[in-house]
Amino acid sequence: FHVDIDAAQADKGTYPFYMLKEIDEQPNVMRKLSQVYLNDAGEPVINDDLMTALKAADRLYIVAAGTSYHAGLVGAKLFESLAGVPTEVHVSSEFAYNQPLLSAHPFFIFLTQSGETADSREVLLNVNEQHFPSLTITNVPNSTLSREATYTLLLHAGPEIAVASTKAYTAQIALEAILAKALGVATNQPAADDFDVKQQLALVANGMQALVDEKDTFEKISKDALLNTPNAFYIGRGLDYAVSLETALKLKEISYVQAEGFASGELKHGTIALIEKDTPVIGIITQKNTAGLTRSNLQEVAARGAKTITIVTDNLAKDGDTVILPAVDERLTALLSVVPGQLLAYYTSLNKGLDVDKPRNLAKSVTVE
Ligand code: AGP
Repeated sequence: FHVDIDAAQADKGTYPFYMLKEIDEQPNVMRKLSQVYLNDAGEPVINDDLMTALKAADRLYIVAAGTSYHAGLVGAKLFESLAGVPTEVHVSSEFAYNQPLLSAHPFFIFLTQSGETADSREVLLNVNEQHFPSLTITNVPNSTLSREATYTLLLHAGPEIAVASTKAYTAQIALEAILAKALGVATNQPAADDFDVKQQLALVANGMQALVDEKDTFEKISKDALLNTPNAFYIGRGLDYAVSLETALKLKEISYVQAEGFASGELKHGTIALIEKDTPVIGIITQKNTAGLTRSNLQEVAARGAKTITIVTDNLAKDGDTVILPAVDERLTALLSVVPGQLLAYYTSLNKGLDVDKPRNLAKSVTVE
């Protein structure tokens, strides 16, 4: 009797689309990453040579495309706050032909679900020519970028079939958090010592479960605000801005709503002109230092007729907020705040009668530049 794990995992089961199955798998992916990369005491277990190379770096360069780029934006905050190492994030297709001035000892991190993205590979080929060390974080063992980088860490998310990436995004952020903790501990950063990544990922897994158990809520919000709109905005600041970019991409690629992720403070510098009666504006509020500012920005658009929706962490919530997220460490809120956006995109696409898993003009792996 033989069970092929990959084939079993790649089966849709009773789900109408892979995307919904993959959204639902996220709590287990968080637990799996904890098991694979953390010991019983919650300490990261990462290859010694990789740690030595990371410690020798004076700057990290995260290079990625699409959703993986958005996971990199969150990762940079984690590396800077936990490991104290300056970190830049670059879109692969831009970096490949416009390489910025590099630091003396750069270390490259390639984030790629498929491990096959041509734009990212082009950068890796340049990096290898310059003999810089690199790490590929990927979901696909033995993929091209995995074979060609100095080091590889696997996401262990199970096959991701839907074109719209969901569980790979949250897996990338969780693994970046583990790696940032490992580097911070190895370089004696107090912030890393105080960051209990194992406990936090357990909280995140439970929080994700609570959100995916509320599917009816998200289908209702989608029907009320997104199903019949030509355009929509996600807004936030800092990490919430990073998640705004990702949730807007989800909505665009599968529901064909023209969506923008926007830094909420930047709206008034031009884009607010697009706000009309009933334009949906979804505010993500998980960071204490900017919560009040994003709320004011939402009031500004509401005064111009926008239909506002709030996705807010429990400890920052006020009466009338639309979606309340369970509280976790502020550095990890992206792992929860993205889930409503994934489900809103899913239900908008589903109720438009579109092919959720295979949106027009898109392929799962983009192997051309
Ligand atoms: C995500 O929903 C997209 N379909 C796309 O942006 C994707 O993340 C991008 O093409 C990068 O792919 P990779 O992670 O396999 O490199």
